[in-house]
Amino acid sequence: MANVTFSSPLLPKDVTVYAVAGDTDTLLKVAQKNKIPLPFECEDGSCGSCVIEVLSLSDKPFMAQDLTEKERATLVAAGKLSKADIEEAVVNDKPPRYRLACQYIVRDEDVLVRFSGEPGVV
Ligand code: FES
Repeated sequence: MANVTFSSPLLPKDVTVYAVAGDTDTLLKVAQKNKIPLPFECEDGSCGSCVIEVLSLSDKPFMAQDLTEKERATLVAAGKLSKADIEEAVVNDKPPRYRLACQYIVRDEDVLVRFSGEPGVV
């Protein structure tokens, strides 16, 4: 069980929801199931409208997740992923700060997810 806390100017206060570990739901699906107004368009990692900031809320090391080529390209084009971020992710398993909610699979860890509510803007 993972706690996912959403924080946005669109929400009157932060909202924490529970996601079942082992599910393969994306963060976007978890948001939709819980009526969190996270912007999206393509749902396939190419438009960048669902960009989010993800921060770990646990003491355990943050779980790294491979970025698909498409997510990587979209985040680079949006200026949310640098060469150094990519190297940190590949070499040191350090997850990047910005992700696409439609590509991010929820893991068994507590995270804080920030979004502005404006498509493509964190
Ligand atoms: Fe288009 Fe996520 S909805 S990249």
